[in-house]
Amino acid sequence: MVDVLLGLQWGDEGKGKIVDYFAPNYDIIARFQGGPNAGHTLYVDGKKVVLHQIPSGIFHDNIINLVGNGVVLDAVTFKKECASVSSFGVDYKKNLYISERTHMIVPTHRALDKASELAKGNDKIGSTLKGIGPAYMDKTGRNALRVGDLLHKDFKSNYLKLREKHQKLLDGMGFTEDISAWEEEFQEAVEFLRGFKIVKGEYFINNLLSQGKRIMAEGAQGSMLDVDFGTFPFVTSSNTISAGVCTGLGIAPQKIRDVIGVTKAYCTRVGSGPFPTELHEEVGETLRKIGNEFGATTGRPRRCGWIDLVALRFACMVNGVTKLVMTKSDVLDSFKELQVCTSYKVDGEESNEIPFQMNNVTIEPVLKSFKGWEQDISSIRDAAALPEAMKTYIDFINKYLGVNVDYISNGPGREQLITVA
Ligand code: GDP
Ligand code: IMO
Ligand code: MG
Repeated sequence: MVDVLLGLQWGDEGKGKIVDYFAPNYDIIARFQGGPNAGHTLYVDGKKVVLHQIPSGIFHDNIINLVGNGVVLDAVTFKKECASVSSFGVDYKKNLYISERTHMIVPTHRALDKASELAKGNDKIGSTLKGIGPAYMDKTGRNALRVGDLLHKDFKSNYLKLREKHQKLLDGMGFTEDISAWEEEFQEAVEFLRGFKIVKGEYFINNLLSQGKRIMAEGAQGSMLDVDFGTFPFVTSSNTISAGVCTGLGIAPQKIRDVIGVTKAYCTRVGSGPFPTELHEEVGETLRKIGNEFGATTGRPRRCGWIDLVALRFACMVNGVTKLVMTKSDVLDSFKELQVCTSYKVDGEESNEIPFQMNNVTIEPVLKSFKGWEQDISSIRDAAALPEAMKTYIDFINKYLGVNVDYISNGPGREQLITVA
């Protein structure tokens, strides 16, 4: 049985915390897409840790963590992450497996990402500059290096061929930055990666499935950043939705049981691109401050706004969401009034569907107001004790989406999660 846990907005919904919470119910936690662009925050023994490529089950003994074939892996970031996990006393090599089909990010991918963003000027995507786009381009362009190639004698020459191809592109783009320090780091990190359990991911996971093991597929980014269904071109380069689990791990669709969607009680976005409910003034600033909305990977301030039910219902539809988790509900504690977006006015015309184009049109959110609960909810552990105003807010969301909020997260800590009966 496979359950999927993924973000329903523009990323940073609190997936890491929720995976870590549910992890004891599973035997395997597997990442199926994305790479070092992700930043999943967990608190272990009260201490904060941010994971980028290592699945969020790594702090639990006896849980297998698999980096699936759909991921693009940067050996340099991976080595640093291993060091950080190790500082918690975790023997990361024991439970960590990597698919041989996982594609590798090389230093020139990072340079190409940077060059491409520079060339776009004001139209830049706001990429994390981790080399994600160029690495996935090489995958679909059929040029790339995969983790399994590390074990073959011609790895070095294939790497040099790829590097040469990239250098020509970089020269054409007028990119002159010296990346030799990155390349040195990369060579060391490649040696480090060779020491891991590199497996036939699809056989590995299907064998475990046939033994009755329970798998959680951990999504990165969010549905509105999906390369097909997100706010294109301001998206990432992978399928972040539940369908990505099948191609990103080699799992058949009928093996998937629950799709657990994570949404904040409001909305954030980091990087450029459309964000209909964005709040530019004081309220947005307050959300950023209370929610501590700064990127876990890049440290950039996140843009903040009200919850967008048009986008959320769209995300529930394309993912087949069966359960909802609402995070950061405590961030709304002090607000007198809350708003939710129930439809858009696209160039003046009202619609409750996501339009084909979200840039180059004017999107005005149609908002419905709710009374805030104006109460500290962060120590509540029982759904019955939640304020009435909050129940009204969540009831409306449940009805609008046709899926229920089953869990409410009311703080960053492991214990701050309320099960709604
Ligand atoms: P992810 O990328 O989806 O894993 O999310 P991030 O880790 O990038 O960002 C979520 C941030 O919110 C992290 O700093 C978490 O510690 C924090 N967080 C998660 N859940 C809650 C919550 O319910 N309340 C509060 N106040 N913070 C939360
Ligand atoms: P997690 O897993 C939030 C955003 C970037 C940029 C766009 C493309 O922590 O939720 P990329 O580097 O993929 O080429 O950037 O996507 N982005 C994220 N935003 N959370 C993430 O991951 C993100 N990963 C990428 O800011 O707008
Ligand atoms: Mg994040």
